Amino acid sequence: MGAPMTSTEPRKIILDCDPGHDDAVAILLAHGSPGIELLAVTTVVGNQTLAKVTKNALATGTIAGITGVPFAAGCARPLVRTIENAPDIHGESGMDGPALPEPAIKLDPRHAVDLIIDTIMAHEPGTVTLVPTGGLTNIAMAARKEPRIVERVKEVVLMGGGYHVGNWSPVAEFNIIIDPEAAHIVFNEKWPVVMVGLDLTHQALATDEVVARIEAIGTGPARFVRELMDFFADAYRGAQGFEFPPVHDPCAVAYVIDPTIVTTRKVPVDIELQGKLTLGMTVADFRAPAPEGCNTSVAVDLDHQRFWDLVADALVRIGDVGVSRG
Ligand code: BDR
Ligand code: CA
Repeated sequence: MGAPMTSTEPRKIILDCDPGHDDAVAILLAHGSPGIELLAVTTVVGNQTLAKVTKNALATGTIAGITGVPFAAGCARPLVRTIENAPDIHGESGMDGPALPEPAIKLDPRHAVDLIIDTIMAHEPGTVTLVPTGGLTNIAMAARKEPRIVERVKEVVLMGGGYHVGNWSPVAEFNIIIDPEAAHIVFNEKWPVVMVGLDLTHQALATDEVVARIEAIGTGPARFVRELMDFFADAYRGAQGFEFPPVHDPCAVAYVIDPTIVTTRKVPVDIELQGKLTLGMTVADFRAPAPEGCNTSVAVDLDHQRFWDLVADALVRIGDVGVSRG
């Protein structure tokens, strides 16, 4: 088992999220990793209302001591469907469990869709990676509003979908089914898409050993993650019968930091928009070698040890920010 393979140049990312317990861990991992340059954090309706997930994002950024990174709020409802939130998994606040500080970060006045477009257009083509960990509404809107971003983005590494199981229906995952039309747009654009779906993230379990290791770091941000995991474990045990909670969203960030932690397969993927039983299914075609020009890959296997090493290392690097959480 070698040291994590990180390129010398940190990868520039925009994290589009709906915190969300696991989204918060994704923010901490992105901020604390030397392999990532966090260009912006944008929020989208999903686990809870836009107002709640935005408040949670700002609080998480405050706990992590993030400064100089714009945070902006995006779409408050999906493109076509009515809003569906996930209080069974994330509680009424969207991030129940830990006490949160008053945010020390001021929200950027721009709409998230504009911040995403401005950021991509301001950087060299092929240098910015989009990491969506919520519904794909903002990303789809950005692609439609400024189509030139599609060829400028390095890749879209998203947490969502699954080729084997669903969690919001037998075959559909939450981030896809809450806005399947947006997902359809994102998967059918020409940019490279890496689908870090449930097949992979159900391997990212916060076991007792993992949680004890995080707690032993002994800092404020590490305690915050521990408290997030306590709530998340109970929720996943109660709602979906998991022994340990799957910590989905940081898996997408981990892939960007070190793609050798996640095995992927290049296969065509499309989104089901018609099916009565299968709406929001990410239909992956494993039957033959991917055709020429296939732009989609799916995540298959996770190196659990090295994934949690990345999270623990990021927390150690963030250190004790000294934010009081009341
Ligand atoms: C996804 O849905 C949300 O509840 C989580 O934050 C994650 O992004 C898992 O299906
Ligand atoms: Ca999420």
